[in-house]
Amino acid sequence: MKEEIVQKSMEKLRLKPNLDYDKVVKSFKWDDIKSEIEFFEKGKLNAAYNAVDRHVKTWRKNKVALYWESDNDSKKFTFSELSILSNKFANVLKNLGVKKEDRVFILLPRIPSLYISFLGILKVGAIAGTMFSAFGPSGIKDRLADSTAKVLITDPELKKRVDEIRFELPSLETIIVVGDNVPKEKGVVSYNEEMNKASRNFDIEKTDPEDFSFMLYTSGTTGKSKGIVHAHYSILQQHITAKWVLDLHEEDVMWCTADPGWVTGIAYGILGSWSNGASLVVYEGRFDPAKWYSILEKYNVSIWYSAPTAIRMLMAAGNDILKKYDLSSLRYLCSVGEPLNPEAVKWSVEELGLPFHDNYWQTETGSIMVANYPLMPIKPGSMGKPIPGVRVAIVDDAGKELPIGKEGNLVIQPGWPSMMRQIWQNKEKYDSYFKGKWYFTGDRSSMDKDGYVWFVGRADDVIKTAGERVGPFEVESVLIEHPAVAEAGVIGVPDELRGEVIKAFLVLKPGNEPSEGLKEDIKKFVKTRLAGHAYPKDIDFIKTLPKTRSGKIMRRVLKARELGLPEGDLTTLEE
Ligand code: WTA
Repeated sequence: MKEEIVQKSMEKLRLKPNLDYDKVVKSFKWDDIKSEIEFFEKGKLNAAYNAVDRHVKTWRKNKVALYWESDNDSKKFTFSELSILSNKFANVLKNLGVKKEDRVFILLPRIPSLYISFLGILKVGAIAGTMFSAFGPSGIKDRLADSTAKVLITDPELKKRVDEIRFELPSLETIIVVGDNVPKEKGVVSYNEEMNKASRNFDIEKTDPEDFSFMLYTSGTTGKSKGIVHAHYSILQQHITAKWVLDLHEEDVMWCTADPGWVTGIAYGILGSWSNGASLVVYEGRFDPAKWYSILEKYNVSIWYSAPTAIRMLMAAGNDILKKYDLSSLRYLCSVGEPLNPEAVKWSVEELGLPFHDNYWQTETGSIMVANYPLMPIKPGSMGKPIPGVRVAIVDDAGKELPIGKEGNLVIQPGWPSMMRQIWQNKEKYDSYFKGKWYFTGDRSSMDKDGYVWFVGRADDVIKTAGERVGPFEVESVLIEHPAVAEAGVIGVPDELRGEVIKAFLVLKPGNEPSEGLKEDIKKFVKTRLAGHAYPKDIDFIKTLPKTRSGKIMRRVLKARELGLPEGDLTTLEE
């Protein structure tokens, strides 16, 4: 990016950046920054304590931690209030018999109770599992069953989806329902009533840094979603990357637009950012350009962390809307989750006077791994450079490092603090990420002579639609449950706005005729069962699916056919 643009955006930064990358990267050791977070005696550590309670001992106690807004309401919470409320919730869980390492799941829209309960779960030493409120009954069941969750926190509306599958969840002892009109049922308690009764004092569990803190289900190519488990120690890297990459300063107000059902919404929508003592904005509602700009304006947001699909949608909404708002409080913009097109960076420079800084990581890595930093010239289209303390390389399938500029597997040297500690009860899957001395991300990239990493694509069939990670197998599994569907093959098709959209190729059971009505019915079927974002936007009915002789669907053949590309090696095709 041109020098003068970098210069201009530096002026808008207003504050001295927290990280001097070139200086720090040379000799950085993780031990150097341990003092950034607070340990209890004997090296014990609790991530929730670091995020909230430690600030209560300082002047920050009355600083606003959370500015919450919905479409008809808004509320503020100070660090001190969050500390008390999450203590209360920790007591609620304790009274329900929740113990260390029990899985406690949250299925809520982005309301304050989501954040309070997440912190409370960590305070008792249990493992917090988050889910998008867009999940349907089978998405919810898969997660609660696999994790054998003991407690679920939800609201009356979302509870209806859980009621459909509760009989299949013998481990689920209690559902805590937030809001009014809580039904009087066995195994159901009212959040409000329990919170009112609970003490505001809680002796926070002094967990070992390696004890598990939260888990998130995420998709791969094969099988159902896997539970990625993180340890309390991950707060160290979440904290330092929030400081270095998001450049959080004391006076900043940050809006991380991500939902805590996604790892970004936990690592930077809760833990790492609050650990820095920053004020966070949460907007409960759905994406809407005018509303989004009004939030930036109303809360004087200075740091904005969002995702490419949202940025593209803002671009598509046109600059007339943007011009109606005073966005002069913004000083630094970041993006994650999918490739950030150079046009998006150009747009933000032209319209906001600031470039979006792309960064890269995964649910499994627990925090940012590769990033563009405030003091570093951006090369639009590149994800930036590895964070200090993290070694990234481009290797061939055997793990041999490739020369500069060559495309290959993006790998990371294991041992960074926020690396996943387990795939819930699936050692084989966990081990499959590691080969030789490397952790394989499943992404393909190249690295240029200056050390910038350029994303190429996934090495597998994982779909990224509007930033959400969707496994084709999961969608196919739900599709074949539809009474008319015999077989299903699912792929991602490039889309200008959403990055990719999901497309399904279906073989119908005898006696069923292809029709537009059937397509709509099938889409609805997936939407209401799996998740709002995981349904196929496009459906083609075909006679047979391309399969290997061993019966595996050859999705790459479907994709090549769809895109009019060469089909590649077909020697294993059964058709
Ligand atoms: C993709 C997201 C291009 C990548 C925090 C990765 C990206 C997957 C970028 C992880 C980026 C993430 N540019 N692709 N800046 N960031 N990805 O687990 O394929 O939802 O492996 O975590 O998103 O997705 P996940």
